[in-house]
Amino acid sequence: MEEFKTIIEPFKIKMVEPIKVSTSDERLSYLQQAHYNPFLLKSDEVMIDFLTDSGTSAMSANQWAGIMVGDESYAGARSWNHMRETVETLSGHGYVLPTHQGRAGERILYGFLGGKGKVFISNTHFDTTRANIEFSGAEAIDIVIEEGKNPREFHPFKGNMDVVKLEALIQEKGAENIGAVILTVTNNSGGGQPVSMENTRQVSAICKKYGVHLFLDCCRVAENAYFIKHREPGFENHTYYEIAQEMFRLTDGSVMSAKKDALVNMGGFITLKDEALANECKNLLIITEGFATYGGLSGRDMEALAIGLKEVFEPDYLHYRIRSTAFLGERLRDMGVPLMWPIGGHAVYIDAKELYDHIPVQEYPGQALVCELYKKGGIRTVEIGSVMFGKYDNEGKLIPAPMELVRLAIPRRVYTQSHIEFVIEVFEKIMQDKASAKGLKIVEEPLFLRHFTSKFEQL
Ligand code: F0G
Repeated sequence: MEEFKTIIEPFKIKMVEPIKVSTSDERLSYLQQAHYNPFLLKSDEVMIDFLTDSGTSAMSANQWAGIMVGDESYAGARSWNHMRETVETLSGHGYVLPTHQGRAGERILYGFLGGKGKVFISNTHFDTTRANIEFSGAEAIDIVIEEGKNPREFHPFKGNMDVVKLEALIQEKGAENIGAVILTVTNNSGGGQPVSMENTRQVSAICKKYGVHLFLDCCRVAENAYFIKHREPGFENHTYYEIAQEMFRLTDGSVMSAKKDALVNMGGFITLKDEALANECKNLLIITEGFATYGGLSGRDMEALAIGLKEVFEPDYLHYRIRSTAFLGERLRDMGVPLMWPIGGHAVYIDAKELYDHIPVQEYPGQALVCELYKKGGIRTVEIGSVMFGKYDNEGKLIPAPMELVRLAIPRRVYTQSHIEFVIEVFEKIMQDKASAKGLKIVEEPLFLRHFTSKFEQL
């Protein structure tokens, strides 16, 4: 696409879902009813939903047409063949297993390769990936490069894995004890930051040298390809699709949550090169997910997935997608909102500890910002800080998370420029009223994953 200042949404809208516009009084009462936890809000009470980019995409006319021709046969459905061929052509891996979403694939593959004494190494394991690995009894170690831990420093590929640490870890733990090495592209937990091809090649070479499996957590592989084309020398003339293909070719397999870059609301898959490993996983798939030619998906889901996984590589779409996320981030940065830099592919992460430096971490500045964004503009976001990751010591004192972030995850093809302008305006108000934001205390919480269901009171 030629460079214009205004990037248009490269689609027309022919079906709409109404947003209920609320008043600030209504929102305050909804928030109180939800005990200051936006996970407990009804979606009808939300105006702009930035809770996640997962499963929240708008499907295209072609995908909806695919829904109508979905083949619901139990075995060997046409829709399965369409999905299998699409995934096989992209990945170059000979074995494809359908799953209902990403974590189902993680449980099957990492559950099989894991177990007590095994170690998994990643740039950063996503929460469900880590949970599945640890649930099997294995250990999960994150080794993103140092630049990836500094929220302000520019580096073109902050999702890269530290290859020196990788080799040292394999030697220390023993290659036979490594369950797998996993490259997460883009690195969600690290701010949606990309991984370079050069880094993938180096990781791949080390894994080959020691005979260790390398898998791609590829749920945002198209977004990652955009960054490679525009930031890594030598890829200017490659298509996004070719870049993704090359990345897959450097690995032994992948796990995908299709709810992201396959532009569907539900779906996933595992790909593998190795037949014996694929057969083991297929047996587990049949026990818990479904037969090997649908794995927990309807035929129509597989059809839409096959179409979405091609659409996502269209240059106009990817340009709009990455630039519109960056647009929001750049405007907020110009306004003085402290955030993770550079902006990643699918989300903008605000540094609430710095924004609300008058709220101590024990009073959850991230949750305070989440509540302010909702009260002021009906915007739903998620805290990624001490509510999500905080622990208690023996005296019951909070051990805070390393950062107090708030994620604005942008659903694909759902919101327009004016929605984004609205969000920017809400942030202007946030900045004006910064000093009046109040901390919160937790009044009720479950033992695990407390961010989903905890109840809060404003201080
Ligand atoms: N891997 C990554 C990098 C993810 O971001 C996710 C989900 C998964 C695996 C698990 O996939 O949800 O289909 O089971 N991320 C969502 C998010 C939930 O909001 O970032 P799933």
